[in-house]
Amino acid sequence: MAYAQKVIDHYENPRNVGSLDKNDRSVGTGLVGAPACGDVMKLQIRVKDGIIQDARFKTFGCGSAIASSSLVTEMVKGKNLDEALTIKNTAIAQELSLPPVKIHCSMLAEDAIKAAIQDYKNKQESDDA
Ligand code: FES
Ligand code: FES
Repeated sequence: MAYAQKVIDHYENPRNVGSLDKNDRSVGTGLVGAPACGDVMKLQIRVKDGIIQDARFKTFGCGSAIASSSLVTEMVKGKNLDEALTIKNTAIAQELSLPPVKIHCSMLAEDAIKAAIQDYKNKQESDDA
């Protein structure tokens, strides 16, 4: 798909929109904002046996941010946490062929997945305490 088609597809038919229970110990929540524009993205993962089983997002932002979060929820499913941490915004931007002014929108998705993984890890540690 060409740039416009692919972004528009993820924009008009975003995958995995919604929320998971943030109090569930198997759920990690990442909430990040883009200083450049004030857009906000919430991304959640559900982890079982170290593998990301499910992901959901809500993005209050531009079309590229919505497309980036939609894409990243698809990318992380089935990955373990270490693999998911290696997802780079450049890969998202490349996949969606984002123009330079929209690169920070994909950065939001990378930051959000990292924050969600960190939140999940923090939860497991506090559960052990
Ligand atoms: Fe307004 Fe992203 S700058 S929605
Ligand atoms: Fe700011 Fe897309 S997230 S313009």
